[in-house]
Amino acid sequence: MKKKVILTKNYLEEAIKRLKEKFELIIVQDTGKDFVEVLKENQDAEALISFLSDNITKESIDICINLKIIANYAVGYNNIDYKHAIKKGIYVTNTPDILTAATADLTMALILSVSRRIVESDEFVRRGKFNGWEAKLMLGKELNGSTIGIIGMGRIGLALALRAKAFGMNVIYYSRTRKKEIERKYNLKFVRFIELIKESDVVSIHIPYSQDVHHLFNKDVFNLMKNDAIFINVSRGGLMDERCLAESLEKNELFGAGLDVYEFEPKITEKLKKLKNVVLAPHIGSATYKTRLAMAMMTVNDVILALSGKKPDYLIPEYKL
Ligand code: GLV
Ligand code: GLV
Repeated sequence: MKKKVILTKNYLEEAIKRLKEKFELIIVQDTGKDFVEVLKENQDAEALISFLSDNITKESIDICINLKIIANYAVGYNNIDYKHAIKKGIYVTNTPDILTAATADLTMALILSVSRRIVESDEFVRRGKFNGWEAKLMLGKELNGSTIGIIGMGRIGLALALRAKAFGMNVIYYSRTRKKEIERKYNLKFVRFIELIKESDVVSIHIPYSQDVHHLFNKDVFNLMKNDAIFINVSRGGLMDERCLAESLEKNELFGAGLDVYEFEPKITEKLKKLKNVVLAPHIGSATYKTRLAMAMMTVNDVILALSGKKPDYLIPEYKL
């Protein structure tokens, strides 16, 4: 008998095909039923593949008594009560590395879109307002020679730093642990958090979400930023107080913002949708075909490993603590 694997939502066909060859696959989305109901009907399932939009609670982890692995189809895994899973000896895996370039590209795309007012320009042209070259049409902010402050110098933070340098930006960073080797190798400057906030023309955040950093960007922090600074968040919405950000943008206390994630995702603060100085993306940081396929295959391979009694390749770092 094939072992049972639960996948919360449909993802790339190639990965689904591979799962179906090996396992009895239950796709929650296709059942039309509630997630917990499907878990209860399949208490013998041995693997769960989850999305970052699935809230995997202690209670849901406890339903499947033979659960061996929760493979999250994302690099972030704050959606899973992983401490509980670890305590129960259930593997938790994510999809690191593979999405670094795609995510750093999207970050750069948002920085460029905001600084050069691309979305606003597009709308302007489509509305038939373009009547020829003008000296002061859509003036934006120049990246060359400006300073980018990167919060978090993990893989994505570093990939962004290298891209920013190629655009002539001066890079400063803050992270909980200083990365001296990276600093030396790539000529990056470590500064204190407050210093970074005050000095940066672009502030971009690249850290995982946890309760400890909830609303790291609050009213006080937005107030400390330069009045013509750009704020970028492609990490997790909970890292910012979205209402305060909207207010700062509305009062032009910032030049603009680029967001790929939202505090109450998929809900978005109404005010943001009305502002021209913010570019809004629907959580597409890793959304290239190549990356999403590679991420899906990582979850499949880790499920195969775990269900054949082996250690999966991409255990979350907390396993090593
Ligand atoms: C995307 O946000 C991810 O964590 O993979
Ligand atoms: C994500 O992969 C990071 O470490 O930044």
